Amino acid sequence: MSFESGEKTVIYFDNAATSFPKPESVYRAQDHISRTCCANPGRGGHYLAHQAAKIVLSARLDLARFFNISDCAQVAFSFNATEAINVALFGLLQPGDRVVTTSMEHNAVVRPLHELQQRGVEVVKVQADRQGRVTVEDIKQACSVSTQLVVLSHCSNVTGTLQPIGEIGPWCRQQGITFMVDAAQSAGVFPIDVEAMAIDLLAAPGHKSLMGPQGVGFLYVDEKIHLKPLKYGGTGTFSSQLTQPEQMPEHLECGTLNTPALAALSAGIHFVEQVGMAAICQHEQELTNRLRNGLSLLDNVTLYGPVEAEGGVVSFNIDKRDPAEVGFLLDHHYGIGTRVGLHCSPDAHRTIGSFPQGTIRISPGYFNTQEEVDCLLTAITEIIGDSLSAASV
Ligand SMILES: Cc1ncc(COP(=O)(O)O)c(C=O)c1O
Repeated sequence: MSFESGEKTVIYFDNAATSFPKPESVYRAQDHISRTCCANPGRGGHYLAHQAAKIVLSARLDLARFFNISDCAQVAFSFNATEAINVALFGLLQPGDRVVTTSMEHNAVVRPLHELQQRGVEVVKVQADRQGRVTVEDIKQACSVSTQLVVLSHCSNVTGTLQPIGEIGPWCRQQGITFMVDAAQSAGVFPIDVEAMAIDLLAAPGHKSLMGPQGVGFLYVDEKIHLKPLKYGGTGTFSSQLTQPEQMPEHLECGTLNTPALAALSAGIHFVEQVGMAAICQHEQELTNRLRNGLSLLDNVTLYGPVEAEGGVVSFNIDKRDPAEVGFLLDHHYGIGTRVGLHCSPDAHRTIGSFPQGTIRISPGYFNTQEEVDCLLTAITEIIGDSLSAASV
């Protein structure tokens, strides 16, 4: 779907960063609630405060249904996936603990773990293969009796590679190891069932494939896990106590929530449910395969990641061309928005062989079309043909 943005027509291919556009119902919900019901949820006894609290509860229930979470109180809202991941990792890990992760993680996981490592947590990184995949065996071998946590992303934001979380989770549960999934790239496209997959901690943003607006994310916490809160403050409950309430979600949620954004997140989830996750996934995979196939026919192109599309991401490079220059040309000359560089995941680029320059990343979303993919392929063909360089623009 192309947009008129100011004086420019833009084709957006950066859905792995944030999905855009959103379904109309999402814009409508955010606008409607901003105008009619933006009282403070859970803070007052008056009519509008109750209405706002209902909206927040509905969003919690929607997420619980979507991820098969039996108690929606175990869902704590956050600002984005990064905040949810920080709440989980800093709330769980103590000096002396041992964590197993992978070489494909986003800095949202890598940096908190690095900080925790400085504080005495042992961090073991399982090396993925060149396609960005780890196996259950790799994870098993990296775990020892002293391992507290296995944490990994379900789907890579660099290659779209899916990890076998449905096998890793049940094994971790058998071993008594806490299992945490960063579902930033998969929530809303691939089925995630916290019960069947034995996921203890699930972090995801609302603004990617759940089709919600920016500024909302969530953390699911299994009932048996106790996290030390990262933030302390008002919850509208137990207000005379000096300590943070033990009950979820207030234990991990304080301050005023973003009620209009949560209403819009609910609308996004309803949209995904109506269209169907399988149909969304199929559309994105078809576009991704079309793009990969087209790129594979071009000279001097190196493609990364799985040959058959998994997540809706294609990473590639053109020989002797800086990805930043290619991204600039796509944007400036063709009005095509892509992402270039390391995509906040330097370890993943070391794994697939594209460090330090990174890649050009194309991430089609539900609203992109085959025609747009073809436009992009034509643009890249022209750039490769050297009919265009940054200097000539
Ligand atoms: C795999 C992965 N994890 C975490 C994040 C962080 O998400 P957010 O920007 O919502 O904090 C991203 C964002 O692109 C991601 O791709």
